[in-house]
Amino acid sequence: MKSVITGSGIGIPKNLVGNDKLTRLMDTTDEWIRTRSGIQQRYYADPGQGSAELGMVAAASALAAAGRSKDEIDAVIFATMTPNFFFPGNGPVVQATMGFPESMPTFDIRQQCSGFLYGLELADSLIQSRKYARLLLIGADVHTPFMPWKRGWASTIGEETGEITPEDYAFNTSIRDRTVLFGDGAGAVVLEASENGNRGFLLSKLYTDGSNIEALYVPGVGFRKRPYVDNDQVDRAESIPVMEGREVFKEAVSRMPQSVRAVCETAGLSVADIDVLLVHQANLRIVEGVAKQLALPPEKVPHNIERYGNTTAGTLPILFHECVQDGRIKPGMLICFTALGSGLHWGAALYRM
Ligand code: ACO
Repeated sequence: MKSVITGSGIGIPKNLVGNDKLTRLMDTTDEWIRTRSGIQQRYYADPGQGSAELGMVAAASALAAAGRSKDEIDAVIFATMTPNFFFPGNGPVVQATMGFPESMPTFDIRQQCSGFLYGLELADSLIQSRKYARLLLIGADVHTPFMPWKRGWASTIGEETGEITPEDYAFNTSIRDRTVLFGDGAGAVVLEASENGNRGFLLSKLYTDGSNIEALYVPGVGFRKRPYVDNDQVDRAESIPVMEGREVFKEAVSRMPQSVRAVCETAGLSVADIDVLLVHQANLRIVEGVAKQLALPPEKVPHNIERYGNTTAGTLPILFHECVQDGRIKPGMLICFTALGSGLHWGAALYRM
């Protein structure tokens, strides 16, 4: 029995934010952002629009594509590091808002940039257990509230035109290495048990190494603190992610290729057998570096980071959906998903279309 993707969809917010809009808020340039990351634009969610809302747009379209009604789904898995609430996770929001029956459980997982990859493994395991036959897997993140430049950010979505003070500009500049990289977005797939042929999820290799959590983490607003959040933590900017960019970059370009090789070897396949490699979209240079290490030609390694930035758990399902829509992914092809993100969590999964 195989887990087969029977439909996919995406949820992209309406506010298109080009690099030029960021240059007003902090000391950065379109040229720096393009050359260091490949990003030209990203989309920002409206205030009040969370990862659950974007995820539900993607979910509704994935359900429609799969031709499934809400009553036919056995469980929802929601991967996000930016849920609408500290708790509960987005699962109950999706259940109530979309009107799924209460007999349908929801699973909330994190795993940051590897959230969708881990979600695929979990979905396949649930299907292989034969307790669940049809699952909805959503990967979504909103970074706009998470990376809060202090003033002026709302001008990027046409809501505020006030002057930026030198203090605000300096603060915004202090976190520019992170803010310019991220966008908001969601993707979703429906996975179903199928006894029919070779199509579907083959296997994955997943890894976790927590020995250097500080390379990419949020230092404050956690439950080791007493209280878990207070003004001092916020004043010290401990609610904002810390990222050692170069360190994470090095890990990404070495560990993703290692995991792709490992999953191919375990499956008795060669890397050259991969028709399309879907790499987590964190930086175009990382995507190109991974392709180079694996000796895969650019046409086998699509990217869309230039249009969306890094949407964390959203990148893989958004890229998958776009490639299916525009015909770059076709029936019979061998697809490999790979990601690395905070944790560190990383890995690769093989899927036969
Ligand atoms: N605009 C202009 N200058 C900037 C900006 C900016 N937005 N950001 C940083 N700089 C400056 C730095 O201050 C530095 O200046 P200095 O040389 O005077 O000190 C210079 O640019 C070079 O900085 P580096 O950090 O060396 O730049 P690098 O080429 O490494 O690119 C980047 C930085 C884009 C962050 C890269 O390291 C990267 O993509 N890292 C990986 C990110 C990633 O994969 N994250 C994981 C996913 S996220 C998740 O899991 C939640």
